[in-house]
Formats: sequence, C-alpha cells, structure tokens
Amino acid sequence: MATDAEALIALARECLDRCYAPYSRFRVAAAVVDDRGRVFTGVNVENISYGLSVCAERVAIFSAVAAGARGITALAVASSGAEVLSPCGACRQVMAEFSAPDVPVYCETAGKPHRWTIAELLPHAFTAPQLGKS
Ligand code: THU
Repeated sequence: MATDAEALIALARECLDRCYAPYSRFRVAAAVVDDRGRVFTGVNVENISYGLSVCAERVAIFSAVAAGARGITALAVASSGAEVLSPCGACRQVMAEFSAPDVPVYCETAGKPHRWTIAELLPHAFTAPQLGKS
C-alpha cells in the first residue's frame, strides 16, 4: 500500500497517462490516502464545454468518498508541467472538507517534490464550525 510520500507521488505520476486533457494538453494526476489506509487515484477529465472539466484532485477525493471514505490523511499530485503544481482554489476547498489542517499535500513536477499542509494551502478555511456544525 502506497502511504509514504515518495510512493504516493510515484503512484500519482503513473496515472498521468490516463488523463483526459485534449484541450489544455496539461496533465494532472492525484493520489489520496483515506483514514482506512486505502489509496484512490484521479486524473483531470476535460470536456468540450470547458467549464465542465474536473481537476485530478477532486476526481481522486470524490472517488474515495464514493467508496465510503470520510477522511483523507495524505494527498499527492503530479503534473506534466515544468513547474511544481499548486492545487487550484476549488480543490483546496474540497481537500479541506475531508482533511485535518495538518494533512500533507505532496506536489511533484519533473522530480521536484514539494510538501504543503492543507492549512498552508487554504489558511482561514471555511469549515463546519462556522455553520455551527461539528
Ligand atoms: N488542473 C488540475 O487537474 N488540478 C489543479 O489543481 C489545477 C488544474 C487541470 C484542470 C485542467 O484540465 C488543466 O489542469 C488545465 O487547467
């Protein structure tokens, strides 16, 4: 089971071939570990109606949730770009829904891993306590 950073990044990288990105030609793949140690992957899936495209991170997280997960303990993201990919704002909010603030997000591009936490990516996140919910 791929749960350490390098293995998780390698798993995400292996998924890059399966991206569906004919419009941007920018491939992104993600791997997440849930609170039961299960690993789920995702790729970006684009659409001719561009706004319907979905990022790799959300595909991976939604796949985990569909399998019953309610907590994410680590995430890794790989891309075809030359720079380290910094996850988009929408994905950060979705990550925060299922992750504690200290959960690591490993981002890798061209062999340059970078580690952020959810709290670093989305400080002052909108979370359940603000709605009066636990
Ligand atoms: N993309 C992701 O999959 N994740 C991100 O965090 C940023 C962007 C995808 C969406 C689109 O298919 C392509 O990258 C270019 O924006």
